[in-house]
Amino acid sequence: MQGDAYLKCVNPKCGLEYPIMSTNVQCENGHVLDVKYKNKPSPNLKETFYQRRNSKGSIFNESGVWRFRELLNFCQIDTEDIEECSKVLVSLDGAEGRQSKPYQMSKAAEFIGIERNGLWLQPEGYNPSGSFKDNGMATAVTHAKMVGAKKIVCASTGNTSASAGMFAANEGIKCDVYIPAGQIAPGKLSQAYQFGAQIVQVEGNFDDALKQSLEDAKNYDGYTVNSVNPFRIEGQKTIPFRALEYLNWEVPDWIVYPGGALGNTSSCGKALMELYEWGWIKKIPRIAVINSEGASTLSDLYNGEFEGEELRWNKGNPNTELISRYYDHLDKEGLRPKTKATAIQIGRPANILKGLRALEFTNGVATTVSDSEMLDGMSVVGLNGFDCEMASGATVVGIKKLMDQGIIKKDDVVVGILTGRQKDAMIPVDYHSNSKNTFAIPPKN
Ligand code: F0G
Repeated sequence: MQGDAYLKCVNPKCGLEYPIMSTNVQCENGHVLDVKYKNKPSPNLKETFYQRRNSKGSIFNESGVWRFRELLNFCQIDTEDIEECSKVLVSLDGAEGRQSKPYQMSKAAEFIGIERNGLWLQPEGYNPSGSFKDNGMATAVTHAKMVGAKKIVCASTGNTSASAGMFAANEGIKCDVYIPAGQIAPGKLSQAYQFGAQIVQVEGNFDDALKQSLEDAKNYDGYTVNSVNPFRIEGQKTIPFRALEYLNWEVPDWIVYPGGALGNTSSCGKALMELYEWGWIKKIPRIAVINSEGASTLSDLYNGEFEGEELRWNKGNPNTELISRYYDHLDKEGLRPKTKATAIQIGRPANILKGLRALEFTNGVATTVSDSEMLDGMSVVGLNGFDCEMASGATVVGIKKLMDQGIIKKDDVVVGILTGRQKDAMIPVDYHSNSKNTFAIPPKN
């Protein structure tokens, strides 16, 4: 296994490589990096992963992330040696990803208008810190520990900071979180405080907070755990791994995510590219990314709504000038991302290039939904006895919109990811107090 993993620039014309112990999040030419593996894991591992669900007391088998450790073995350890796992792999006692799997939710299926058996929704909110971030934080903090980092740093719309804070407290390392002042859900902010993180309030939005946190991490010896860190992406690959495993590796037609910084889109794309290359899957599901109408960078650019050009990965030659002009246009017009779903209130998705690569590989689509639609999506999930936050509601109504447009077909099999649980208690209270809302059950006197 030694020497099997390395970092490589995603730009095929550049392709610079770095050793796995590098903490660069970009190559010298400013392109993002991938973790790459030289070996080709055998599909026989499917049986190993299945058997690990009977964990025999090992937290690394209980973990929904580390159960798949051969497919993200950037630590280059002997994955069967539990003692070595204990020394190297960071885990919240096996709880990350443990409760996450796809469920059928009949009321959501009825609302969407899809066959009940065709819809699977996977709640990632039941992770220890309450969102999908724990999948990628387990791997990012593992790498931070490998390189001897003393402090992890992130910018966040809330969930990343909660997850980073929880992992840092568990590992006894420091954690600085940069948040857009006044723009994150109270439940998320309180988690960061509770776990002892140092909050840095930035006057501005998430994009401003990310810029400042990346600069400060560089200047003050911090280890960045945002999804620009390629090791975050490795852990988040386990979200589609778990979905596929529960479907007996029978590939669905679609995998649907809300889109913010596009870490999830990137990791799902990378997972599928690898599984396909390794011969584990023969069919490639299509990825659908659902932006909020008020923070729709990917959808605007992908669908040619800016300057009429449909932005594509274009085999590694995306028109990055178009992206720059789009950002200049936002700045010039004073257009700031604006949605009540603050988790995805992001104007400059840091992973846009990897996101485009994922959409190209999977023949994916991007679209937008409104705030009121997201609230309906969130609420119908609740009626099935599952909890999710407003940004996750985008997945449900995004699927509905794509079905209404005939893009998702009635007999397609769709996996939708519910990215986080409710951390803003007043959102459902307000929703249900207004009898005009589709699923409202207003209080009685
Ligand atoms: N859903 C939830 C609940 C989120 O918290 C986020 C991102 C997303 C979706 C978007 O995911 O960035 O992979 O496209 N939250 C980040 C944070 C930005 O700071 O917690 P993405």
